Amino acid sequence: MDGLVTAFPEANCLLDTISAKNLKGFLQTLIIALQKNMLLLDKVPAWLSAFTLLLLTQEPVSTSEVTACGVAVDPPANIEISDPGFLGYISIHWTRPAGLQNLTDCTVRYQLRYYDTYEERWRSVRTVKLTYAAQFDLEKPVKLRILTLLKCACTNGTEVQGKETEWAYTPEPTGVAGSRIRDFHCVYYGKEYMECTWESGPVQPPNSQHYLYYWFPRESLLEFSKFNLCVNGSSPAGSLRTAYFSIEVQNHVKPAVVSSVHVSETDEGLKLDWSPPSGQVPEHCLEYEVESSTMMENGKEEQERMVLQNLADTSYGVPRQAESQKTCFRIRSKVNTYCADEGFWSNWSQTKCTADTETQDIPTWKYLGLVGLVVIGIAGVIILCLSLWILRKICIKKISKKDVLYTLYKEKVNETMPTILSPIFK
Ligand SMILES: *[C@@H]1O[C@H](CO)[C@@H](O)[C@H](O)[C@H]1NC(C)=O
Ligand SMILES: *[C@@H]1O[C@H](CO)[C@@H](O)[C@H](O)[C@H]1NC(C)=O
Ligand SMILES: *[C@@H]1O[C@H](CO)[C@@H](O)[C@H](O)[C@H]1NC(C)=O
Repeated sequence: MDGLVTAFPEANCLLDTISAKNLKGFLQTLIIALQKNMLLLDKVPAWLSAFTLLLLTQEPVSTSEVTACGVAVDPPANIEISDPGFLGYISIHWTRPAGLQNLTDCTVRYQLRYYDTYEERWRSVRTVKLTYAAQFDLEKPVKLRILTLLKCACTNGTEVQGKETEWAYTPEPTGVAGSRIRDFHCVYYGKEYMECTWESGPVQPPNSQHYLYYWFPRESLLEFSKFNLCVNGSSPAGSLRTAYFSIEVQNHVKPAVVSSVHVSETDEGLKLDWSPPSGQVPEHCLEYEVESSTMMENGKEEQERMVLQNLADTSYGVPRQAESQKTCFRIRSKVNTYCADEGFWSNWSQTKCTADTETQDIPTWKYLGLVGLVVIGIAGVIILCLSLWILRKICIKKISKKDVLYTLYKEKVNETMPTILSPIFK
């Protein structure tokens, strides 16, 4: 027990309970506060929880007996696995094989292979210690293969590999069949708090309650280490079947929304600037995706999405499209491949568009148009005046012609007609 306490000095088993009947629908959510100052949940030091010794069964492995220095290189003895209650972080213990107890001038090592049920492959370690701890999925069989490696003066300095034995532990499923929860997901928002959601199993006994337990080795979450969770439950009809999960927290991060998006026009085109999202994700761990929607002069809209190659840059230049009237942008971010294997895209930022539609050329055209209008106007007035002037000239000519005629006529009439008719010609 001491060995385990030193191995996990700050191990905590935390529990939170939610009552299924208090929640509408089937979707259950639990927010786990992971910041130091927010650890307000019932905290139970893990070493206080009872160790459970799990019974191993030996499986035959077809390896013949190996001898060196006149003794059989047997597999380790008294193999035991114990579950300290860390939701799958299991300890394996063994002792030196009896036949090798009295050997001097020898180094004895052990090779342990175990089946990683999360990654579905065998993993192998070699150690001089008599204990090893690894992560297992407690819903699946725990499989171990172990052998002794002996190196002595009498083996001429070579390491002799002993016979391998296989051990297995198959957990007995307990609880109401079909009551295991489904669709369990955790999102680690801005690396500040984690939200886990799940749905009830296909069989949900009435008045059942779910419990979520989680365990991690330190008060702050270490990246690239396992974070273990389990959801079980109780009901008047019996306990619910337990579901176990082990996640690496860095792969569940969803950054906050990118803020302060700013679009400006430059000689080369458009320039976007923004601020990294708030939260605990380091800036060098982010990548960005820009979505642009360009409204063309012909009324069509062109949309484009691009994950930026310069991962942590918070600015981006876009060449201006000749036919464009207005371009709008929005940005989202994700943890990049240098900091995690996977992650979630943040929500999109606010949409920001180029300032009041037109580019710089269009006001020039407008100006030219105005000048044109003025010129046309002036020309029109000049033409009008000219026409009036010509018209007036013609009229004056006609009048003077008429005057001449009148005079001539009057002279004639005065000679031949009575004066009474003369006013007609005035
Ligand atoms: C090892 O030595 C002890 C006493 O020194 C003896 O009792 C024991 O039988 C020995 N074991 C073997 C496997 O020779
Ligand atoms: C060690 O070497 C000796 C002679 O060189 C040989 O007789 C013996 O079989 C070797 N032992 C092993 C374990 O290889
Ligand atoms: C749920 O799991 C925890 C942690 O393993 C355990 O202590 C508790 O007794 C379990 N509760 C039920 C109802 O199965």
